[in-house]
Amino acid sequence: LVIVVDYGAQYAQLIARRVREAKVYSEIMPHSATVAEVLARKPKAVILSGGPASVYTPGAPQVDADLFDAGVPVFGICYGFQAMAKALGGEVARTGGSEFGRTDLRVGDHGRLLAGLPDQLRVWMSHGDSVVSAPQGFAALAGTDGAPIAAFEDLGRGLAGVQWHPEVLHTQAGQQVLEQFLYDVAGARPTWTAANIVEESVAAIRAQVGDKRVICGLSGGVDSAVAAALVQRAIGDQLTCVFVDHGLLRRGEAQQVEKDFVAATGVDLKVFDARKQFLAALAEVTDPERKRKIIGKEFIDSFEQAAREIVGSSEESVEFLVQGTLYPDVVESGGGEGAANIKSHHNVGGLPDDLQFKLIEPLRTLFKDEVRAVGEELGLPADLVWRHPFPGPGLAIRIIGAVTQERLDILREADAIVRAEVTAAGLDRDIWQFPVVLLADVRSVGVQGDGRTYGHPVVLRPVTSEDAMTADWGRLPYDLLERISSKITNQVREINRVTLDITSKPPATIEWE
Ligand code: XMP
Repeated sequence: LVIVVDYGAQYAQLIARRVREAKVYSEIMPHSATVAEVLARKPKAVILSGGPASVYTPGAPQVDADLFDAGVPVFGICYGFQAMAKALGGEVARTGGSEFGRTDLRVGDHGRLLAGLPDQLRVWMSHGDSVVSAPQGFAALAGTDGAPIAAFEDLGRGLAGVQWHPEVLHTQAGQQVLEQFLYDVAGARPTWTAANIVEESVAAIRAQVGDKRVICGLSGGVDSAVAAALVQRAIGDQLTCVFVDHGLLRRGEAQQVEKDFVAATGVDLKVFDARKQFLAALAEVTDPERKRKIIGKEFIDSFEQAAREIVGSSEESVEFLVQGTLYPDVVESGGGEGAANIKSHHNVGGLPDDLQFKLIEPLRTLFKDEVRAVGEELGLPADLVWRHPFPGPGLAIRIIGAVTQERLDILREADAIVRAEVTAAGLDRDIWQFPVVLLADVRSVGVQGDGRTYGHPVVLRPVTSEDAMTADWGRLPYDLLERISSKITNQVREINRVTLDITSKPPATIEWE
């Protein structure tokens, strides 16, 4: 275990992810944690993250110097680097040489931290203050125009730090520097692999569940599928999964759950066909938030009914419910808008009192890329493991206007064409998400064949993103766009116009509703 202490910038999660990419398990703790609390976790090493403050700002989080006497290796990044320097008697000053973005680094002494790296590196910086003299016992390794000392190490105590951000992609050899700290300075070993994650979670789930029964809701998405597959691996037929088919998924996705997922895992699946109910409840509703509320309520009702049937027919008591909560949700919980809220609709927290379960959250410590790796390790179909994120309310919020069966069919057909073309172009993993939106209440004039048509436009909304909080529009090759446009207008009779959304988020959101 490596603890990443979060000094309040957005980098702590990224650092924790990079540490895990180095196959070393890491967790984040807030900077308000005391040294005793950090050490109680028995970390192999501690990483102090960057942060927005200056070490001299009154009230800025300081590092308790006791941390450095505990015999645990520590790596300071950016603010963490300066805080380490200051706590150990080095000097941090405002040199007037602020550096933001790409900066040239000169390596003087490579030491162990920078061993094997070139003498010049492009690194990503974001700092006002600089370390001007290293604490006693430290070797200064590198510098830039604005930061006389930009890296140091004290191998005797296992302490090291860098002024730049090794965790960001724009930094050359960033991952290598992080790994050299982890392996060569701190002596950590790369043991955090998908196979080990599976093994550990299986043991933990068995210990938690004993011989009780468990239910799990499947949404068609990656998280619930991987969570269910892990629980299935751990306790086999004590698990029953529920798939509420609301009829708002894309083409093939319901079958993917009902056939491919079941074939890959052997899970006991109960399909609850609620397509008619959902359509009836959504009739003539156009307001996006009302659509979401209705879908949320229908989902809970359906899930509850299915759960009651399972509970009623089971000899042993059903005590647990599986949820696919991920680590970023845990770290950010209570954080208003964002990841923690996004899945509220699948959060079956709205169940009545007589139907309450204890939670099993097997993905609670995992990042999305790890969830995918675990899914592959468990042998889930690649289509499912690499599926793009998809909103809980499904196609209902991609039909601008009221949802009807006919409109769903039109959108599904157009969406299937888009997905097939993007896959054929090999671009699935370059695009974060690709909503196709039907402007069902807008009509546009066209000529198809010999006649004038009065059909509907669709909007293509390919986006790139890291976490859905911000996004950019995806630059797709023109020939791909052309193929998509011509196939849709040729094959989907009701659509006579294909448009491309070229707005970033902000100011727009990813979905249209
Ligand atoms: P926006 O449109 O807000 O979307 O930029 C950000 C991410 O969240 C997804 N999204 C939802 N997911 N229920 C969900 O489970 C919802 O009501 C919902 N609305 C948006 C969206 O697909 C994108 O990934």
